[in-house]
Amino acid sequence: MSRIVYLNGEYLPEEEAKVSIFDRGFVMGDAVYEVTCVLDGKLTDFDGHMARLARSLRELQITCDITPEEWLAIHRRLVAENGLTLGGVYLQVSRGNAGDRDFHFPPAGTPPTVVLYTQEQPHMLDGPKVEKGVKVISVPDLRWHRRDIKTVQLLWASLSKMAAEAAGKDDAWFVEDGFVTEGSSNNCYIVKGDTIITRPLSNDILHGITRAALMKILAERQMKIEERPFTIAEAQQADEAFYTSASAFVMPIVEVDGVVLGDGKPGKLSKRLREIYIEEARKNAI
Ligand code: PDD
Repeated sequence: MSRIVYLNGEYLPEEEAKVSIFDRGFVMGDAVYEVTCVLDGKLTDFDGHMARLARSLRELQITCDITPEEWLAIHRRLVAENGLTLGGVYLQVSRGNAGDRDFHFPPAGTPPTVVLYTQEQPHMLDGPKVEKGVKVISVPDLRWHRRDIKTVQLLWASLSKMAAEAAGKDDAWFVEDGFVTEGSSNNCYIVKGDTIITRPLSNDILHGITRAALMKILAERQMKIEERPFTIAEAQQADEAFYTSASAFVMPIVEVDGVVLGDGKPGKLSKRLREIYIEEARKNAI
Protein backbone atom coordinates (compact mmCIF):
# COMPACT_ATOMS: atom_id res chain seq x y z
CA MET A 1 0.00 0.00 0.00
CA SER A 2 1.30 3.43 -0.89
CA ARG A 3 2.39 5.57 2.04
CA ILE A 4 1.83 9.24 2.58
CA VAL A 5 5.25 10.88 2.84
CA TYR A 6 6.42 14.39 3.61
CA LEU A 7 8.45 16.40 1.11
CA ASN A 8 9.27 20.10 1.58
CA GLY A 9 6.03 21.09 3.28
CA GLU A 10 3.71 18.74 1.39
CA TYR A 11 2.09 15.43 2.33
CA LEU A 12 2.06 13.27 -0.80
CA PRO A 13 1.58 9.66 -1.91
CA GLU A 14 5.10 8.19 -2.08
CA GLU A 15 5.00 7.82 -5.90
CA GLU A 16 4.46 11.56 -6.26
CA ALA A 17 7.34 12.67 -4.02
CA LYS A 18 10.15 13.67 -6.37
CA VAL A 19 13.56 15.19 -5.61
CA SER A 20 15.88 16.98 -8.07
CA ILE A 21 18.76 15.08 -9.71
CA PHE A 22 20.95 18.02 -8.56
CA ASP A 23 20.08 17.59 -4.91
CA ARG A 24 23.23 17.70 -2.76
CA GLY A 25 22.02 14.70 -0.79
CA PHE A 26 21.87 12.68 -4.02
CA VAL A 27 25.13 13.80 -5.67
CA MET A 28 27.33 14.37 -2.58
CA GLY A 29 25.79 12.63 0.40
CA ASP A 30 25.46 16.17 1.77
CA ALA A 31 22.58 15.41 4.10
CA VAL A 32 21.82 14.34 7.64
CA TYR A 33 19.15 12.00 8.94
CA GLU A 34 17.38 10.65 11.99
CA VAL A 35 15.39 7.50 12.67
CA THR A 36 12.87 7.76 15.49
CA CYS A 37 11.22 4.60 16.73
CA VAL A 38 7.43 4.31 16.90
CA LEU A 39 6.04 2.07 19.65
CA ASP A 40 2.27 1.74 20.14
CA GLY A 41 1.87 4.56 17.60
CA LYS A 42 4.02 6.93 19.71
CA LEU A 43 7.47 8.44 19.19
CA THR A 44 10.23 7.30 21.53
CA ASP A 45 13.19 9.42 22.72
CA PHE A 46 11.84 12.14 20.42
CA ASP A 47 13.52 15.16 22.01
CA GLY A 48 16.89 13.41 21.91
CA HIS A 49 16.57 12.71 18.19
CA MET A 50 15.57 16.30 17.45
CA ALA A 51 18.44 17.68 19.56
CA ARG A 52 20.92 15.50 17.66
CA LEU A 53 19.37 16.56 14.34
CA ALA A 54 19.84 20.23 15.27
CA ARG A 55 23.47 19.52 16.18
CA SER A 56 24.15 17.60 12.92
CA LEU A 57 22.67 20.48 10.88
CA ARG A 58 24.71 23.03 12.83
CA GLU A 59 27.96 21.11 12.40
CA LEU A 60 27.44 21.01 8.61
CA GLN A 61 26.03 24.55 8.41
CA ILE A 62 22.84 23.37 6.75
CA THR A 63 20.07 25.89 7.34
CA CYS A 64 16.65 24.49 8.16
CA ASP A 65 14.15 26.61 10.06
CA ILE A 66 11.64 23.90 11.01
CA THR A 67 10.99 24.22 14.77
CA PRO A 68 10.89 21.30 17.24
CA GLU A 69 7.10 21.74 17.51
CA GLU A 70 6.77 21.56 13.71
CA TRP A 71 8.97 18.44 13.56
CA LEU A 72 6.71 16.81 16.13
CA ALA A 73 3.58 17.76 14.20
CA ILE A 74 5.02 16.33 10.95
CA HIS A 75 6.05 13.07 12.64
CA ARG A 76 2.66 12.70 14.30
CA ARG A 77 0.71 13.40 11.12
CA LEU A 78 2.73 10.80 9.16
CA VAL A 79 2.27 8.20 11.91
CA ALA A 80 -1.49 8.90 11.97
CA GLU A 81 -2.01 9.06 8.18
CA ASN A 82 -0.14 5.79 7.68
CA GLY A 83 -1.65 4.04 10.71
CA LEU A 84 1.82 3.16 12.00
CA THR A 85 1.93 1.39 15.35
CA LEU A 86 5.35 -0.31 15.30
CA GLY A 87 8.34 0.84 13.26
CA GLY A 88 10.03 4.16 12.71
CA VAL A 89 10.02 7.53 11.04
CA TYR A 90 12.94 8.29 8.72
CA LEU A 91 13.84 11.97 8.42
CA GLN A 92 16.41 13.45 6.05
CA VAL A 93 17.53 17.03 5.47
CA SER A 94 19.93 17.75 2.61
CA ARG A 95 21.63 21.00 1.64
CA GLY A 96 19.16 21.21 -1.23
CA ASN A 97 19.50 21.84 -4.91
CA ALA A 98 21.58 24.66 -6.36
CA GLY A 99 20.43 23.89 -9.93
CA ASP A 100 23.67 22.18 -10.96
CA ARG A 101 26.44 20.06 -9.46
CA ASP A 102 28.72 22.40 -7.54
CA PHE A 103 31.16 21.82 -4.67
CA HIS A 104 30.58 25.21 -3.07
CA PHE A 105 27.89 26.44 -0.73
CA PRO A 106 24.68 26.95 -2.73
CA PRO A 107 23.48 30.58 -3.00
CA ALA A 108 22.06 31.98 0.25
CA GLY A 109 18.37 31.21 0.52
CA THR A 110 18.60 27.83 -1.26
CA PRO A 111 16.10 25.80 0.75
CA PRO A 112 17.11 22.43 2.18
CA THR A 113 15.34 19.30 0.93
CA VAL A 114 13.30 17.82 3.75
CA VAL A 115 11.96 14.28 3.46
CA LEU A 116 10.17 12.15 6.05
CA TYR A 117 8.50 8.78 5.74
CA THR A 118 7.27 5.99 7.96
CA GLN A 119 8.66 2.47 7.94
CA GLU A 120 6.80 -0.48 9.43
CA GLN A 121 8.89 -2.97 11.40
CA PRO A 122 6.49 -5.63 12.59
CA HIS A 123 9.25 -7.70 14.24
CA MET A 124 10.87 -5.00 16.30
CA LEU A 125 9.72 -6.50 19.57
CA ASP A 126 10.26 -10.19 18.81
CA GLY A 127 11.72 -12.21 15.95
CA PRO A 128 14.66 -14.61 15.64
CA LYS A 129 17.41 -12.04 16.34
CA VAL A 130 15.90 -11.13 19.68
CA GLU A 131 15.37 -14.77 20.62
CA LYS A 132 18.67 -16.19 19.40
CA GLY A 133 20.92 -13.13 19.58
CA VAL A 134 23.06 -11.82 16.74
CA LYS A 135 26.43 -12.87 15.36
CA VAL A 136 28.93 -10.20 14.38
CA ILE A 137 32.12 -10.07 12.35
CA SER A 138 34.75 -7.36 12.68
CA VAL A 139 35.89 -5.14 9.82
CA PRO A 140 38.27 -2.17 9.76
CA ASP A 141 36.57 1.17 10.32
CA LEU A 142 37.04 2.89 6.97
CA ARG A 143 34.57 5.73 7.54
CA TRP A 144 35.39 9.42 7.72
CA HIS A 145 36.30 10.94 11.10
CA ARG A 146 33.12 12.87 11.94
CA ARG A 147 31.00 9.89 12.90
CA ASP A 148 29.34 12.03 15.57
CA ILE A 149 27.40 13.72 12.75
CA LYS A 150 24.55 11.54 11.50
CA THR A 151 25.15 11.93 7.77
CA VAL A 152 23.59 9.79 5.05
CA GLN A 153 27.08 8.65 3.99
CA LEU A 154 26.37 5.04 4.83
CA LEU A 155 28.45 3.33 2.13
CA TRP A 156 30.89 1.60 4.47
CA ALA A 157 28.12 0.69 6.90
CA SER A 158 26.12 -0.83 4.10
CA LEU A 159 29.09 -2.69 2.54
CA SER A 160 30.00 -4.05 5.98
CA LYS A 161 26.48 -5.29 6.65
CA MET A 162 26.50 -7.01 3.26
CA ALA A 163 29.91 -8.57 4.07
CA ALA A 164 28.46 -9.89 7.34
CA GLU A 165 25.49 -11.31 5.50
CA ALA A 166 27.77 -12.94 2.90
CA ALA A 167 29.67 -14.57 5.79
CA GLY A 168 26.40 -15.97 7.16
CA LYS A 169 26.37 -13.52 10.12
CA ASP A 170 24.11 -10.66 11.13
CA ASP A 171 26.15 -7.51 11.55
CA ALA A 172 29.61 -5.96 11.55
CA TRP A 173 31.65 -4.23 14.26
CA PHE A 174 34.09 -1.54 13.18
CA VAL A 175 37.66 -1.69 14.53
CA GLU A 176 40.14 1.18 14.52
CA ASP A 177 43.64 1.21 16.07
CA GLY A 178 42.86 -2.17 17.64
CA PHE A 179 39.66 -1.07 19.38
CA VAL A 180 35.99 -1.47 18.53
CA THR A 181 34.45 1.87 17.60
CA GLU A 182 30.80 0.89 17.05
CA GLY A 183 28.54 -1.40 15.05
CA SER A 184 27.56 -0.70 11.44
CA SER A 185 24.39 1.03 12.70
CA ASN A 186 24.52 0.75 16.48
CA ASN A 187 26.56 1.35 19.64
CA CYS A 188 28.33 -1.66 21.20
CA TYR A 189 28.72 -2.94 24.76
CA ILE A 190 30.35 -5.89 26.48
CA VAL A 191 29.56 -7.25 29.93
CA LYS A 192 32.20 -8.57 32.34
CA GLY A 193 30.73 -9.80 35.62
CA ASP A 194 28.38 -6.99 36.64
CA THR A 195 30.18 -4.27 34.67
CA ILE A 196 28.96 -2.88 31.37
CA ILE A 197 31.77 -1.58 29.16
CA THR A 198 31.24 0.78 26.24
CA ARG A 199 33.38 3.21 24.27
CA PRO A 200 33.19 6.82 25.50
CA LEU A 201 31.59 9.51 23.33
CA SER A 202 33.87 11.33 20.88
CA ASN A 203 33.92 12.11 17.15
CA ASP A 204 34.78 8.41 16.60
CA ILE A 205 31.21 7.23 17.13
CA LEU A 206 27.63 8.36 16.74
CA HIS A 207 26.23 9.64 20.02
CA GLY A 208 23.38 7.16 20.11
CA ILE A 209 20.09 8.36 21.52
CA THR A 210 19.34 4.82 22.69
CA ARG A 211 22.81 4.76 24.29
CA ALA A 212 22.00 7.96 26.20
CA ALA A 213 18.67 6.53 27.38
CA LEU A 214 20.33 3.29 28.46
CA MET A 215 23.14 5.10 30.31
CA LYS A 216 20.49 7.01 32.24
CA ILE A 217 18.73 3.76 33.12
CA LEU A 218 22.02 2.21 34.26
CA ALA A 219 22.96 5.25 36.35
CA GLU A 220 19.53 5.39 38.00
CA ARG A 221 19.90 1.76 39.01
CA GLN A 222 23.48 2.27 40.20
CA MET A 223 24.76 -0.33 37.77
CA LYS A 224 28.46 -0.43 37.00
CA ILE A 225 29.49 1.29 33.77
CA GLU A 226 32.99 1.64 32.37
CA GLU A 227 33.27 4.03 29.46
CA ARG A 228 36.44 2.89 27.74
CA PRO A 229 37.44 1.32 24.44
CA PHE A 230 37.64 -2.48 24.22
CA THR A 231 39.22 -4.91 21.77
CA ILE A 232 37.74 -7.81 19.82
CA ALA A 233 39.78 -10.23 21.99
CA GLU A 234 38.25 -8.73 25.13
CA ALA A 235 34.77 -8.98 23.63
CA GLN A 236 35.38 -12.63 22.81
CA GLN A 237 36.14 -13.28 26.49
CA ALA A 238 33.21 -11.25 27.77
CA ASP A 239 30.24 -12.82 29.54
CA GLU A 240 27.78 -11.01 27.30
CA ALA A 241 27.62 -8.42 24.59
CA PHE A 242 24.86 -6.32 23.06
CA TYR A 243 24.21 -3.32 20.87
CA THR A 244 21.75 -0.45 20.98
CA SER A 245 19.92 1.57 18.34
CA ALA A 246 16.55 3.19 17.84
CA SER A 247 15.43 0.35 15.59
CA ALA A 248 16.85 -2.55 17.63
CA PHE A 249 16.54 -1.24 21.23
CA VAL A 250 18.97 -3.46 23.19
CA MET A 251 20.03 -6.41 21.02
CA PRO A 252 21.94 -9.37 22.51
CA ILE A 253 25.10 -10.52 20.68
CA VAL A 254 26.11 -14.18 20.95
CA GLU A 255 29.11 -14.50 18.65
CA VAL A 256 32.08 -12.27 17.76
CA ASP A 257 34.33 -13.28 14.83
CA GLY A 258 33.33 -16.94 15.17
CA VAL A 259 33.85 -17.11 18.96
CA VAL A 260 30.71 -17.98 20.89
CA LEU A 261 30.06 -15.88 24.02
CA GLY A 262 29.05 -17.71 27.21
CA ASP A 263 26.57 -20.49 26.45
CA GLY A 264 25.77 -19.03 23.04
CA LYS A 265 22.38 -17.70 24.15
CA PRO A 266 21.37 -14.07 24.73
CA GLY A 267 22.85 -13.00 28.08
CA LYS A 268 20.66 -12.52 31.16
CA LEU A 269 21.69 -8.91 31.72
CA SER A 270 21.28 -8.04 28.03
CA LYS A 271 17.76 -9.48 28.05
CA ARG A 272 16.87 -7.65 31.25
CA LEU A 273 18.22 -4.35 29.92
CA ARG A 274 16.20 -4.82 26.75
CA GLU A 275 13.03 -5.25 28.83
CA ILE A 276 13.78 -2.23 30.99
CA TYR A 277 14.68 -0.06 27.99
CA ILE A 278 11.44 -0.94 26.17
CA GLU A 279 9.41 -0.33 29.35
CA GLU A 280 11.00 3.12 29.81
CA ALA A 281 10.71 3.97 26.11
CA ARG A 282 6.98 3.17 26.28
CA LYS A 283 6.58 5.38 29.33
CA ASN A 284 8.38 8.30 27.73
CA ALA A 285 6.89 7.98 24.24
CA ILE A 286 4.91 10.96 22.97
N1 PDD B 1 21.40 3.90 13.19
N2 PDD B 1 25.96 4.19 15.50
C1 PDD B 1 25.65 4.25 14.20
C2 PDD B 1 26.75 4.22 13.19
C3 PDD B 1 24.29 4.30 13.77
O1 PDD B 1 23.99 4.37 12.48
C4 PDD B 1 23.27 4.30 14.77
C5 PDD B 1 21.81 4.41 14.41
C6 PDD B 1 23.66 4.23 16.13
C7 PDD B 1 22.63 4.23 17.24
O2 PDD B 1 22.03 5.49 17.38
P1 PDD B 1 20.53 5.62 17.94
O3 PDD B 1 20.51 4.91 19.26
O4 PDD B 1 20.35 7.06 18.09
O5 PDD B 1 19.61 4.98 16.95
C8 PDD B 1 25.00 4.19 16.45
C9 PDD B 1 20.04 4.07 12.76
C10 PDD B 1 19.05 3.36 13.60
C11 PDD B 1 19.93 3.71 11.29
O6 PDD B 1 20.84 4.06 10.56
O7 PDD B 1 18.93 3.12 10.85
